[in-house]
This record gives sequence, structure tokens and C-alpha cells, in this order.
Amino acid sequence: MDRYAQKRLIRKLDLELFVASLQSQSNPQVQLEQYTTPERVVANMLYIAAYTHGDVIDKSVLDLGCGTGRLGLGAAFLGAAEVVGVDIDPVAIKAAQTNTQKSGLSKCVHLVNSDIATIHGRFDTVLQNPPFGVQNRKADQAFLVKALEVADKIYSIHNHPQVDEQLIRMLKSRGNFVQVLPSPFLGGFIAKYGGDITAVYSMLMSIPKMFGFHRKLRHDFVIDLYVIEKQSKK
Ligand SMILES: C[S@@+](CC[C@H](N)C(=O)[O-])C[C@H]1O[C@@H](n2cnc3c(N)ncnc32)[C@H](O)[C@@H]1O
Repeated sequence: MDRYAQKRLIRKLDLELFVASLQSQSNPQVQLEQYTTPERVVANMLYIAAYTHGDVIDKSVLDLGCGTGRLGLGAAFLGAAEVVGVDIDPVAIKAAQTNTQKSGLSKCVHLVNSDIATIHGRFDTVLQNPPFGVQNRKADQAFLVKALEVADKIYSIHNHPQVDEQLIRMLKSRGNFVQVLPSPFLGGFIAKYGGDITAVYSMLMSIPKMFGFHRKLRHDFVIDLYVIEKQSKK
């Protein structure tokens, strides 16, 4: 039996309910693009990472820009050996600490209030939903570079490059996710920093009105989950 099959399979619905039970960001800051990843997206992402690619259970996991800890705590819930969550915002880290304690996961989850630039070391897997770089240009690129520096496998959420009504219709009717091609820009960027793209999964993301400049009560858009593998040194 392989290593990750030894742990009990968690139902996706139970994972979604666990993530939904976590405290969310009390006062999100637009400058840091503090959008909470919806539980459906977290569950899809973690299911793909854990059960399609075997990169969560018994692994060391780094959650870059952890916010209130949804991705890292979800990984710990599925059976990660060790999780480190990092966020620059002390308010987010405090909420992540509360979530860790309430979930009884303090033994394997460690939280760091810091800029991702200060993180060094080696991890099996990075999970991240970085700022898309809308407020702070290229913020997403700094996350990708850091992830490729410290981990062998990376699961990273990015904005789908264009509005694609056909893809939105397909996701609404089929649900969950569909596999798509990488954007030429991200494909080139990731290769430049030593990564190979294994797969890209598009999913629907729906966020409530959070900031004054939002014009609608809900904003539905497509995000792409990049699965990246660090190129082995020849
Ligand atoms: C889109 S939110 C995602 C939050 C959380 N991971 C989730 O999935 O709900 C991006 C997070 O990155 C954090 N962040 C932005 N820039 C950062 C930096 N340079 N270093 C560390 N954290 C940063 C923000 O505070 C925010 O919590």
C-alpha cells in the first residue's frame, strides 16, 4: 500500500464543512488582496493535491499568504505531517492561530507572521492563493518565485487570463473543475524559475462584495489552479 493510501479517505463534503467552520478575515485589507478562498475551491484544490497527485498526506506543507489558515488547516485535516502558514498581516495570523487551536491541530500547524521573502528551508508542497497583483503589481510573481525556491510541488491559484463565457457556462453546468492549457505568460515565467507545469484546472470562484469599489453583490470569475513540479537538477 502506498504511503498516502494508509490514511482514511476524507469525504470532500466533510473537508468543505471543516473549512467553512473556520473563522474568516474580520477586516480584509484591499492593499493585501485579502480575498478568502471559498470552501468549494479549497476542497477541490486539496482533493487534487492529496488524492490525484499524492502531495499532502504525510508531507511537509507550506501555506504562503495563509490568511486565516484555510489551505494549511485543510491540508492538516487531510493528514499532512507538518504545516507552516505564513502571512504578513498580524490580524490574519491571529485568526489562523484561533482556527488552529479550535481545530485541535496545534501539534502539526505552525504560524509565522512575516513577509514570504523571509521564508527559507525545504518543504514537500506549497499551497497558495497569492494576491493576483491587482493592487501590488507582480505580487503573484514573488509568491511563485518563493514557492519554486523552497518546494518540490506547488499548487498555486491564478486569475484566468481572459473572460471566457463558454468556460464559465461549462463550469456552471458540469461543476467543480475542467483541465485547461497554461497561459503563455505564466508558462514562460514558471519555466524561467525552474518549474514544469503538470496540469492546470479551471474553477469558478464567487466572492461577496467586500470593498467599496465592488459594483455587484457577488463577483463570479474563473481561476486557474496551477500544479507545478520543480525541475530536477541534471
Ligand atoms: C488572496 S489572500 C489568500 C488568503 C488565504 N490563503 C485563503 O486562501 O483564504 C492572500 C494573502 O496573502 C497575504 N500576503 C500578501 N502579501 C504578502 C507577503 N508579501 N507576505 C506574506 N503574506 C502576504 C495577505 O495578507 C492575504 O492573507
